[in-house]
Amino acid sequence: MAKLKIAVLISGRGSNLQALIDNFGPAVANSPIEIVLVLSNRPDAFGLTRAARAGIATTIVDHKAFADRTSFDAAMDQEIRAHGAELVVLAGFLRLLTDGFIAGWHDRLVNIHPALLPAFKGLKTHARALEAGVRFHGCTVHFVRPEMDTGPIIAQAAVPVRPEDDENSLGGRVLAAEHRLFPLALRLIAEGKVTVEGERAVIHDAAFAGSALFNPLGA
Ligand code: GAR
Repeated sequence: MAKLKIAVLISGRGSNLQALIDNFGPAVANSPIEIVLVLSNRPDAFGLTRAARAGIATTIVDHKAFADRTSFDAAMDQEIRAHGAELVVLAGFLRLLTDGFIAGWHDRLVNIHPALLPAFKGLKTHARALEAGVRFHGCTVHFVRPEMDTGPIIAQAAVPVRPEDDENSLGGRVLAAEHRLFPLALRLIAEGKVTVEGERAVIHDAAFAGSALFNPLGA
């Protein structure tokens, strides 16, 4: 089967990108995915180094070089299409995209968000989860729609919030879950197991673990 060609957009550290490289990079035999481009809006993003080390094409489209978001997004769009990408993956890409860009990649643009959407959209999700006192937090992979952090949910992972947690410990637990969830969700897409019906993503052939999660465990 032909590999699904993806472009990964980043702004920084790129630990999620690393998880994608580890699962789908050039060194991986029989990957259903080919990472054709890693694009960063920041020249100093460490993820660029990770991509270059793995032998993946990189490009920088620096938002500061553009007068407005429309021209910035158009430049990114051009790079992504020039590399033949079929799916755009936001992996810690921290710029808001224009409606025009998003429309051009309808159901072919996915994002990972560090919370269980629709709870805790936006930034500082771990601090807000602690503040709210929720017992579970987590991460979501979803198709992107114009309104920030909305769109059909493809997959979620829940992690427990522990009484002793601070932003760092909770964030680290969520990040470890992101590194498992993102490859899993992209693999489902690459294998043709995800469709969008109405505004819900439907997974064909999914496996489900357990019937319920409890936190804390009582008597
Ligand atoms: C990840 O936690 C990702 O979920 C989050 O940024 C981090 C990037 O880390 N994304 C957002 O907050 C998007 N609004 P990484 O560069 O190490 O993958």
